[in-house]
Amino acid sequence: MTPEDVAPACAIPSPAAPVNLVIFGGTGDLAVRKIFPALASLCRSQLLSQDSRIIAVGRKDLGRERYLNQIMERLAGSIPSACLSDLQARLDYLAMDPDVPGSAQVLAAHLARLDASGSRNRLYYLAVPPAAYIPLSRNLGQANLGAEAGGRSVRIVVEKPFGRDLHSARELDAVLHQYFEERQIFRIDHYMAKETVQNVLLLRFANALLEPLWNRRYIDHIRITAAETLGIGHRAGFYDQTGVLRDMFQNHMMMLLALCAMEPPSLFEAELVRDERSKVFRALRPLDLSRLGEQLVLGQYGPGLVEGQAVPGYLQEPGVRPDSSTPTFAWMKVFLDNWRWQGVPFHLCSGKRLAGKRTEISVQFKRVPVSMFRNIHGDAIAPNRLILGIHPEEVVRMEVQTKGPGPQLCLRSQFMEFSYGAQSVLHRLDDYAKVLLDCILGDQTLFWRQDAVELCWGFLTPILDQCDCPDRAIPLHTYPAGGPGPKTDQ
Ligand code: BG6
Repeated sequence: MTPEDVAPACAIPSPAAPVNLVIFGGTGDLAVRKIFPALASLCRSQLLSQDSRIIAVGRKDLGRERYLNQIMERLAGSIPSACLSDLQARLDYLAMDPDVPGSAQVLAAHLARLDASGSRNRLYYLAVPPAAYIPLSRNLGQANLGAEAGGRSVRIVVEKPFGRDLHSARELDAVLHQYFEERQIFRIDHYMAKETVQNVLLLRFANALLEPLWNRRYIDHIRITAAETLGIGHRAGFYDQTGVLRDMFQNHMMMLLALCAMEPPSLFEAELVRDERSKVFRALRPLDLSRLGEQLVLGQYGPGLVEGQAVPGYLQEPGVRPDSSTPTFAWMKVFLDNWRWQGVPFHLCSGKRLAGKRTEISVQFKRVPVSMFRNIHGDAIAPNRLILGIHPEEVVRMEVQTKGPGPQLCLRSQFMEFSYGAQSVLHRLDDYAKVLLDCILGDQTLFWRQDAVELCWGFLTPILDQCDCPDRAIPLHTYPAGGPGPKTDQ
């Protein structure tokens, strides 16, 4: 059988059933930077049904015409004009203050006008600051907007962060669950929608080659890195209260860890996949708080040069408290207490204002047990490494040792490589378009389930309590922007 004999299972699905998509925060940054471009990409790929409507909701009383003028101007640079007119034709604007109890009645009336039969699916996207999640969900629920009458589905999309610790995550969940079932709640992690992140499971479980090696017998350690060159931009208000552990570890880093470490489910089906991810989180060994410094390094960027440009330090960023001790870098060594991974360290590392943008998983195998070339090369033979480049380098790269050409027996590291970039981009959807499409289709595979959220918070909250404490034992290293970050164990 040749690769061509295998039927392609990757055809783009036909448009999903029509949906009324309500975007709360319709004038906000997330809507402009991510959601509208994602919708445009779905329109372009003909994945959004012609009958779907978009209702942008904001606090300001703008009226449809003024809103359209403003939003189209902001989107003009990032969306092709044909897609813009397509979006414009489906777009309405509604003013609503989610803090005012009962204000969602206006939305209920609007939706009823748009869809007299009441049969069209509904999707509420909370593209608002996290503090607004609870009042908004309550407001929607009290206006009976969570109800799935008449064969229509109703779904609600929540962006990370899902709370700021275990307690607040449970609080948010309790309110959501008062009005929505778990199957209606879509907790977005845009990392899950990256092609290269999804590829981790295919690489592991659609090949017989790796599985026998994918365990503590052959793997020495796994390193998961999400390094950024960007600083905090205009997000000081959010970031200074959040820091890297809540912003990146509680969600993206944990999700990458789960994909590397999980067992194969019996079928690629949402609940089965999510069950396996949760089992990984359940196996996380709590960090020893009395020796936290051995497993955790925190840093905050100082001024420096990034890609040749002078940039301010974190404390000089507008909106940051001058004495802020919020970490912008963290390295953490974690272990999983289960048969497959006992004793294998997972190094998780993420930081802002580092030397380069690089998200990758590096799997380092054990060294050969003995080198038969020791008489020529000594004992040191570099171990094999498998690199899964997530972004911007989208590769699967295996580092192997080979003979260098020539009359002598020279060892040379070489790479066997598969590059995503070399593939056709015809069927590709960007991260947000993919998650949005899955919300519309009702496929929860790529989304966080509440048990997993709570397990991760359960692991991180004691660490955060230590880090947030004013006389914390763990130091905060200042690192120059544009460099490698603070020194870590790996
Ligand atoms: C977001 C974080 O979730 O992910 C940001 O809030 C971070 O702080 C971003 O910059 C990184 O995403 P990506 O896709 O650029 O790696």
